[in-house]
Amino acid sequence: MASAATAPTAAATTAARPGEDTSNPEELLAGSHTLPSSWWFSEKIFDLEKRAIFMKSWLYTAHTSTFKKAGDYYAYNFMGMQFFLIKNKKGEIKAFHNICRHRAYPVVRKQKGSSVVLGCLYHGWSYNTDGDFTKAPQFENVTDFDKTENGLYPIRTHVTDQGLIFINFDNSPEGPMPFGEFFKGLEEEFHEFDFSDYEYHMSYELDGEFNWKTLMDGYMECYHCPTAHPGLSQAFHMNTYNVIPKGRYARHFCEIKRTEAAQPEPKKEESKGWFGFGKPQEVQDKVEEKKNVGGEFDGLWMYLFPTNGINCYSPAWYSIRVLPISPSHTILQYDIFTKKGLPEAEKKEFVDFLQQVEIEDFDLCVKTQKNLNQGLYSTGFLHPQKERGVVFYQNLVKDMVKEHFAKEQEAGHQINPAKLGADKGGAETDELEHICKSLECQGSNPETFAKELNW
Ligand code: FES
Ligand SMILES: [Fe+2]
Repeated sequence: MASAATAPTAAATTAARPGEDTSNPEELLAGSHTLPSSWWFSEKIFDLEKRAIFMKSWLYTAHTSTFKKAGDYYAYNFMGMQFFLIKNKKGEIKAFHNICRHRAYPVVRKQKGSSVVLGCLYHGWSYNTDGDFTKAPQFENVTDFDKTENGLYPIRTHVTDQGLIFINFDNSPEGPMPFGEFFKGLEEEFHEFDFSDYEYHMSYELDGEFNWKTLMDGYMECYHCPTAHPGLSQAFHMNTYNVIPKGRYARHFCEIKRTEAAQPEPKKEESKGWFGFGKPQEVQDKVEEKKNVGGEFDGLWMYLFPTNGINCYSPAWYSIRVLPISPSHTILQYDIFTKKGLPEAEKKEFVDFLQQVEIEDFDLCVKTQKNLNQGLYSTGFLHPQKERGVVFYQNLVKDMVKEHFAKEQEAGHQINPAKLGADKGGAETDELEHICKSLECQGSNPETFAKELNW
């Protein structure tokens, strides 16, 4: 079985070319089954996934090109946690929990905006773009109040050479695994694509009544494509579809059919354009179009564990940000960046192509989740090659959940790596926290905990 521990080496990762399968077939044995369906609807598993996976992983959030000037910010809700990214006066991207340090009111109230002064509208405390406390009405002469201790809670960030911004909520004493280790080889592979030649085009959002894994299950294979995506299957050679697991990310590959346009005889075809969509036109037009949009580039499609995707084509690249809200509610956010100077008609063609496929996937997820929620189905047999990506990511889920569960059992209480450091509330705060923890932990007794989780 593939797992974080048995992932391919960095050498294999960086040497891989599109379509080249460098993984060890022994790592994915025939006979793999899906995880039990209870993991797709249980509240407790969802909460455990939050602590075990999402509070420890590097999560793709945005691209630097969408932040034009100091003070530009974007706010997000991730598993109930409110946070925002903001560009500071030095041009760096900072991330903060959207929690006023005074009494926890949200500091940023719009989904996006621009301000170099972040003022809280509860009692009027304010902060700068570095999250530093700047002033609070009538606090000037309060003794023992230390301004330096009252800035916004920062969140770790990593910005890749390509301007891809990742965050990590892990605030535990040991801290998160470094980005370069978590996604070993990823940044090097992204060098194959010139992100600087693209500009922000549009975003859209889908609100789905399904578990985040229901979406990832479909995302991690194209075994379903010939039946569920007829249009996509016209545009790509589906028999070449391959998912290559690489540590904590996976590269998807499929040959596009555009090379067929090189036929000498102009003739009408049913579907045209970059992805097999669009109006009929002369084949000769298609050859011209091929020259315009970037030659033989076959695409760079990356799944980033646990819930993100960066998919690069010649005319555009787009990101998928999957925001789990509850066991059966997930929000999908798409940001599309098109090649500079791309004609509007081609931008539209790309967006139409993308949305058609997403709608087909969305429908699959909604109907599958309804059946999963019934609790009748338990597990299913996965194809060792065609569904290898599913086995790969579900194993990562399983490994991280089991490891964290064992830690919590040993500790006798829940461990939330994202918990923010206690303020200087002193010994009494610790004592009062302890009372609360003891009450919560009555439900986390190792003897009963496993039963509750329907392990
Ligand atoms: S909660 Fe923000 S100023 Fe009081
Ligand atoms: Fe699909």
